[in-house]
Amino acid sequence: MREKRAASIGIDSWTPNGARICDYLLGGRENCPTDRAAANRRLQSNPAARKTAQANRAFLGRVVSHLASEVGIGQFLDIGSGLPTRRSVHEVAQEINPDARIAYVDQDAAAIRHSQAILARDGVRNVIAFQGDLRKPGRILDSPRIAGFLDLRQPVAVLMLAVLHFISDEEDAHGVVHHLGGGLAPGSHIAISHTVDESPPEVGAAVRHGFQFVGAALTPRPRAEIDRFFEGFELLEPGVVDVCDWRPDPLIDDSTLGGRIIVGGVGACP
Ligand SMILES: C[S@@+](CC[C@H](N)C(=O)[O-])C[C@H]1O[C@@H](n2cnc3c(N)ncnc32)[C@H](O)[C@@H]1O
Repeated sequence: MREKRAASIGIDSWTPNGARICDYLLGGRENCPTDRAAANRRLQSNPAARKTAQANRAFLGRVVSHLASEVGIGQFLDIGSGLPTRRSVHEVAQEINPDARIAYVDQDAAAIRHSQAILARDGVRNVIAFQGDLRKPGRILDSPRIAGFLDLRQPVAVLMLAVLHFISDEEDAHGVVHHLGGGLAPGSHIAISHTVDESPPEVGAAVRHGFQFVGAALTPRPRAEIDRFFEGFELLEPGVVDVCDWRPDPLIDDSTLGGRIIVGGVGACP
């Protein structure tokens, strides 16, 4: 991404940014030299970071595809969305249903400004992006931006991919999901992916260290605690599994991605 364009969007290209680092790891072009330097430092301490990001994004694609085509959901609320590039929710959902509506929410104001610029540049329809904090789920659901855009009386898919592990137990990550689930219409779905606390200690330390460059504290959780996010939901098969094992596409070999670091699942509101 050229400095001139970054400046025109109001982006500080001198400070590494988590969403742009993620874009770089996914092979995107919406990042700056400082993001690439931070990503490469992360890769030094955690060489699996790129494959993990790619496996997580492939999981996102399969989940959205399933929800749009098999379940028939046409509204998506993606919280902790990062940048809408590299097979993001709207790209997958609107290929199946061109009228699908997608709201991207991220706490990072720079990521939101950047997302809005990408969506405007690409002339994308039926997609909005606004700033919101997953730790305050009521404010997101009650936001006038949502009220004018999604119909929460109808089923909606709420995606929280690779974001709940940035919310600590003190900040009540489980309460956040519970609160969100309580505000959704029957037939709605939630999808979660989360760093699992099953890595050997040195890998876990490297993963946590990899996020310190962008000032984000990571809380990997044991699998039982990740399962607990789905309490009150009907868990879709195959449950909470390594993201690579969630309904893998038989035509695509994902087996070299991942590495038991990030698990995910989908639950339906009864
Ligand atoms: C690793 S990226 C994940 C992007 C995308 N969901 C994916 O799975 O590829 C995490 C994103 O979550 C955002 N984030 C972190 N804490 C958040 C919070 N409390 N509320 C909303 N977004 C948050 C970060 O700004 C970042 O863009």
